[in-house]
Amino acid sequence: MALQGRALLRLPWICLLFLYTCADETANSTNVDDKVTCERDHEYDSLDIRNVTGKWSVVELYMHLSKEGVKKYQTCPTITVWETDEIPHTTTFGPSTEHVQLYHVQSIMAKFNQQHRHLRLLWDENGQMTEYSLFFRNESAGYWETFDKQNGSLASRQHYQQFTGTVQVLKAVKDHLVLNFCQPASNGAPPQLYSVLFSRQPGTMPQWAINAVHNLLQNKNLSIASRRMVCGNGATKPILSLFFSLISCLLAYVSLS
Ligand SMILES: *[C@@H]1O[C@H](CO)[C@@H](O)[C@H](O)[C@H]1NC(C)=O
Ligand SMILES: *[C@@H]1O[C@H](CO)[C@@H](O)[C@H](O)[C@H]1NC(C)=O
Ligand SMILES: *[C@@H]1O[C@H](CO)[C@@H](O)[C@H](O)[C@H]1NC(C)=O
Ligand SMILES: *[C@@H]1O[C@H](CO)[C@@H](O)[C@H](O)[C@H]1NC(C)=O
Ligand SMILES: *[C@@H]1O[C@H](CO)[C@@H](O)[C@H](O)[C@H]1NC(C)=O
Repeated sequence: MALQGRALLRLPWICLLFLYTCADETANSTNVDDKVTCERDHEYDSLDIRNVTGKWSVVELYMHLSKEGVKKYQTCPTITVWETDEIPHTTTFGPSTEHVQLYHVQSIMAKFNQQHRHLRLLWDENGQMTEYSLFFRNESAGYWETFDKQNGSLASRQHYQQFTGTVQVLKAVKDHLVLNFCQPASNGAPPQLYSVLFSRQPGTMPQWAINAVHNLLQNKNLSIASRRMVCGNGATKPILSLFFSLISCLLAYVSLS
């Protein structure tokens, strides 16, 4: 009995972990691989970064490359965004310092850090973490590029696909935020393309506000056909949706182990 309880507790985050694995697999099977190009958006170039820092709760995830349809999850992931002066020293991204002597590397990095600001994004899924290290320029504050590998307990899992693309702010208002994650296929790594809707307050967001986000995404040709509602959002039939999310969790669990 106790064992069963523990197994059930473990299930929810295994589902969402699927965000990183399933997305790529479905992307591959739908043959859209090489077609992903990351459109640059300039609407939030002059974003005040303080408007997006702090804690946000996930409302919906839009899997633009997947054909999985609409799914519901009970877990309530959050993110925390903050600006930092701490710069990873062992970065594998950022400016290219290959075939450069050490003292040159240091001056390249110093120059780079003068021109860029650094951001961290911590994804927390029931205590399982992925930390993104990102950078941006003052003149394009809503366009974040990856600076280093993600770390944390979620990122160190076997099936985790490192994200090396860009994160763009598609919408930032007082109480909600839309981020787009985009990474074209490269060096055999499948593309990743998904957007996430966050709200300041955990729990449900008014349907009209969610619909406005759907319209925004569709206007950018980002499909909303496959989406993952989390934290009880859009739950019209609680018992039934709990049943279905348990079933999909079980399937996810079985296919991952
Ligand atoms: C993607 O599909 C190609 C060809 O269909 C296959 O060779 C490759 O192993 C697949 N990649 C993954 C990550 O499944
Ligand atoms: C930041 O938020 C404030 C208050 O909500 C708003 O007035 C301002 O326009 C926002 N600035 C940017 C650049 O997003
Ligand atoms: C960004 O702009 C602020 C305020 O104008 C300035 O203090 C800061 O040095 C700039 N940072 C970079 C990296 O350009
Ligand atoms: C990721 O690594 C940095 C630097 O080592 C560390 O400060 C941070 O706590 C780590 N994040 C997570 C979620 O483990
Ligand atoms: C969206 O796709 C349609 C049809 O493929 C195209 O005509 C339109 O220009 C695209 N819009 C954007 C914003 O990319």
